[in-house]
Amino acid sequence: MRNKVTIVGSGNVGATAAHWIASKELADVVLIDIVEGVPQGKGLDLLEAMPIEKRDSAILGTNDYADTANSDIVVITAGIPRKPGMSRDDLLNTNHKIMNDVVGKVVHHSPNCILIIVSNPLDAMAQAAYKMSGFPRERVIGMAGVLDSARFRTFIAQELKVSVENVNAFVLGGHGDTMVPLPRYSTVAGIPITELMDQATLDRIVQRTRDGGAEIVKHLKTGSAYYAPSAAATEMVEAILKDKKKILPCAAYLNGEYGIHGLFVGVPVKLGAKGIEQIIEIKLTPEEKTALDKSATAVKELVAVINV
Ligand code: LAC
Repeated sequence: MRNKVTIVGSGNVGATAAHWIASKELADVVLIDIVEGVPQGKGLDLLEAMPIEKRDSAILGTNDYADTANSDIVVITAGIPRKPGMSRDDLLNTNHKIMNDVVGKVVHHSPNCILIIVSNPLDAMAQAAYKMSGFPRERVIGMAGVLDSARFRTFIAQELKVSVENVNAFVLGGHGDTMVPLPRYSTVAGIPITELMDQATLDRIVQRTRDGGAEIVKHLKTGSAYYAPSAAATEMVEAILKDKKKILPCAAYLNGEYGIHGLFVGVPVKLGAKGIEQIIEIKLTPEEKTALDKSATAVKELVAVINV
């Protein structure tokens, strides 16, 4: 039987996620939006690319949640994006309303799905979706760490002039200005980057990673990043559908792990067919732990505003 992935939101992130998923033939894709015509048009356009791509993924664009029934995974990208000068947090109240509406409908039609949340402010939206869905925490996962670490890896590879394939990197914490890139656990062909670049270079790259989303918003002016965010969500979809047991940094609801209770924060998790199959606790230095706690506090403040 074929896998079914629904993507909520047919804007740039949603449509590009559909593109990556279909072009990798990971699943049949339903692209849904409240805007009439856009999911239908983008869905049909993408479907018509399949003969060229030699893929048999079916893509359906729709406004009707009945079409999303029994999805294995639902990726939620719905919400307003950032404009220049806005932080992810500025989107909080509007996107919270959208999230509640969407999650209610999604859960009604796909009670057994795994939710991947992409809408910003990411960690707070994941928390809202978790509460709204009533799902176990294994089945509600926030996409952020994969994106943030991809940016970190890009900058490391550029700096050292090596293949991106050689670069592994970890970013913990919330998807915001307080995110915690971890140079100690970031390596090039197994060599810690702390041995390959000086502290000033490292600091510059870490800061650029933290500002990675804003850097794209500044260029685009009318919206935010979408190629890398949708590729990141697709890597998570693939890990789940193929039951890869892949360790990726994702936003997960912590129940005491890392000393954090009742909050979505980015940590390394094992993704497989059941969703989050394990939360990996790595040893942090006191400085790293302080940075993670600061990041968790920032998430907590947002979550308190929307009371989830
Ligand atoms: C980013 C936004 C989408 O990091 O959160 O690009």
